[in-house]
Amino acid sequence: MGLNSITKWLDQCHFGDCRDTMRAMIADGVKVQTIVTSPPYWGGLRDYGHEAQLGLERDPAEYVRVLVETFRLARDLLAEDGTFWLNVGDVYAASGKGGGGNRGDRAAWSTIKERKGFRMPPAGYKMKDLTLVAFQLADGLRRDGWYLRQTVIWKKPAAVEPMRLDRPATSHEYLFLFSKSEMYRAHNPGHKWWGHSVWEIGSDSDGSHPAAMPSELPERCILATTEHSHIVFDPFLGSGTVAASAQKLDRSWIGCELNEKYEPLQRDRLRQPGLQLEVA
Ligand SMILES: C[S@@+](CC[C@H](N)C(=O)[O-])C[C@H]1O[C@@H](n2cnc3c(N)ncnc32)[C@H](O)[C@@H]1O
Repeated sequence: MGLNSITKWLDQCHFGDCRDTMRAMIADGVKVQTIVTSPPYWGGLRDYGHEAQLGLERDPAEYVRVLVETFRLARDLLAEDGTFWLNVGDVYAASGKGGGGNRGDRAAWSTIKERKGFRMPPAGYKMKDLTLVAFQLADGLRRDGWYLRQTVIWKKPAAVEPMRLDRPATSHEYLFLFSKSEMYRAHNPGHKWWGHSVWEIGSDSDGSHPAAMPSELPERCILATTEHSHIVFDPFLGSGTVAASAQKLDRSWIGCELNEKYEPLQRDRLRQPGLQLEVA
């Protein structure tokens, strides 16, 4: 790989559909050591205000198909001994949230009594079903060739929704660790949280991006599975949390993001030091 062809990608966010950007990176022979990312969740829980945004697929099966294809491109960019950390949450079949409105036949949007933004359950799901779409995606990726190595529960200190009368509240998401090959190693295992499968991490977001992750989450992933010389990649960079974490830990990074409106947020994040991570 020529130095010029890689330096033009490094330490910047490339705006556009990440699938197009990844194809161009592959053509340039770019290789990254770890991918840390959080794609849009299924069901358009959050509307990022762009026609090409992922997450508005008709049903979980279609979402999994599209995301598996997307992450196949990411796998082409990954070093043979590289790792892939996927943060994703589960989604209920029907939702009063989201406000995706009527997106035509790309999604199963519907309305009940003219209530815009209410999502009816897709075929095969009942009104109150939890879809397990996070696990469907993890399994789809495994079937596509990824090695599924661990499911870390990201425990949030507080519930992320109002109290319900008929089920406990949701206060966790998932962090799936995949590898590209059977043989690889975590470069810096041994931090005290490496010995747990449940990680409790609170939010440090100011709310300016609707789905920003706390910086400690990518910091743990980057610390454990990269060295200083390695490149960290996030195909769904959003407000730039993964980039800021990589920068703080003195790693190079590459990001993709569809929505140019997050560029000022990214610039702010990249100027600010992240949370001080306690390293055992
Ligand atoms: C869950 S958010 C990522 C948040 C990020 N981890 C952070 O901490 O700010 C998903 C992001 O994916 C972006 N996105 C959606 N479809 C995309 C696509 N096709 N290509 C690139 N980015 C996309 C959305 O605009 C959104 O910012």
